Amino acid sequence: MAERTVRTKNIGLRGIAVADTKISYIDGERGVLIYRGYRIEDLAENSTFPETTYLLFYEVLPTPEQLTAFEGDLRAARTLPDFVVESMKQWPRSAHPMDALQAAVPLLAMADPDLFDESRQANLRKALRLTARIPAVVAAWHRIRQGLEVLPPDDTLTHAGNFLWQTFGIVPDADTARVMDICLILHADHTFNASTFACREVVSTRAHMYAGVAAGVGALSGELHGGANARVMEMLQKIVEDGVTDIQGWVRERLERKERIMGMGHAVYKTMDPRAKILKRLAFQLGEKTGQRIWPELTEAIEKAAMAELSARGKTDIQPNVDFYSASVYHILGFPGDLMTCIFAASRIAGWCAHIIEEKYGDAQGKPALYRPQAEYVGDYCGKLDCEYIPPEKRRDAAPAA
Ligand code: COA
Repeated sequence: MAERTVRTKNIGLRGIAVADTKISYIDGERGVLIYRGYRIEDLAENSTFPETTYLLFYEVLPTPEQLTAFEGDLRAARTLPDFVVESMKQWPRSAHPMDALQAAVPLLAMADPDLFDESRQANLRKALRLTARIPAVVAAWHRIRQGLEVLPPDDTLTHAGNFLWQTFGIVPDADTARVMDICLILHADHTFNASTFACREVVSTRAHMYAGVAAGVGALSGELHGGANARVMEMLQKIVEDGVTDIQGWVRERLERKERIMGMGHAVYKTMDPRAKILKRLAFQLGEKTGQRIWPELTEAIEKAAMAELSARGKTDIQPNVDFYSASVYHILGFPGDLMTCIFAASRIAGWCAHIIEEKYGDAQGKPALYRPQAEYVGDYCGKLDCEYIPPEKRRDAAPAA
């Protein structure tokens, strides 16, 4: 049977539905994000990251008993295998945290007793181990690269609180741990973003879950995807260093030079990203508490100036995205810029694993299929349909004159 070719080239698959999903939904016009039917605002207000992860994995919110058991399993899986930590100690300390994280994923695979068991239960166990261990890897690498001791998990702390403890060696107060917890909820899933699609594409070949996750980490590392919050922080720090006081003028000049305001605009949201609204509140809350209001205040001043300047140019749909205020939140929490994308991964691991399971079992559509798009060949034909191989010694004569 002749294959039908649909020509949708060089548009980054924008607007092309490549699969069904039951995991999350975005309405970019109205600024709505839903996980498994629940609004992100509701989850951020009332849920926790482990509970939201359970929802993503199992499609329903857990009963209190199920949640207690799930949290216990997450806690029990937090400790990294010794050989993973020993291996990390050999890596160059200059390695970027996202490279270290991507390199650690196959090491975690080697330690997983269920690696090649493709039953749903085994994949759910792998998903839980990955969700427990990705933050532990991020924390361990941050300490190893500074020559600090890797800290054991503290079982009295929540998932988010323990992440802060293992990273910084300071037990956070309950409010700070809750801010981290909300950030993890906010980044946990976002439909078919580039890294999630990378995960699903890899496991559509029936590769194991860790192979998919390693691809997801790689896709997330790019500045058009997970790397934007670090760029926002660089922008804020530069404004402070340069002693800029006229923010509107700074924004205007930037736009006139055709430069972008990092943290604004989104491929799907044409209004303010619902997660940005929550992060803005958290940034001011943390800024107030720590005496660092400068960062959210500066971000807000850029937001107002950019909205005014952009609408004067007829662009009203470029508004703050998730990275705009998360930069201030993570900075105040103590994370250096190059660790910010790793926090994203420590949260998105829940969504990646849920999507990998959905892809493997065709949960949202009848039959999972290997992703295999086409490309049109626009290279050379020397003859009618191909070129003739010329032995090396005869190539000089055949080469066109320089
Ligand atoms: N600042 C200034 N102008 C912006 C802008 C921004 N942050 N984002 C988009 N624009 C402008 C573009 O310059 C372009 O203008 P033009 O038509 O005059 O050339 C127009 O809006 C459309 O841009 P385009 O890149 O085609 O739109 P998009 O919807 O695909 O862009 C992003 C989405 C995220 C790539 C883009 O908004 C961006 O680069 N934002 C900054 C980086 C960022 O925060 N990324 C994290 C995303 S979660």
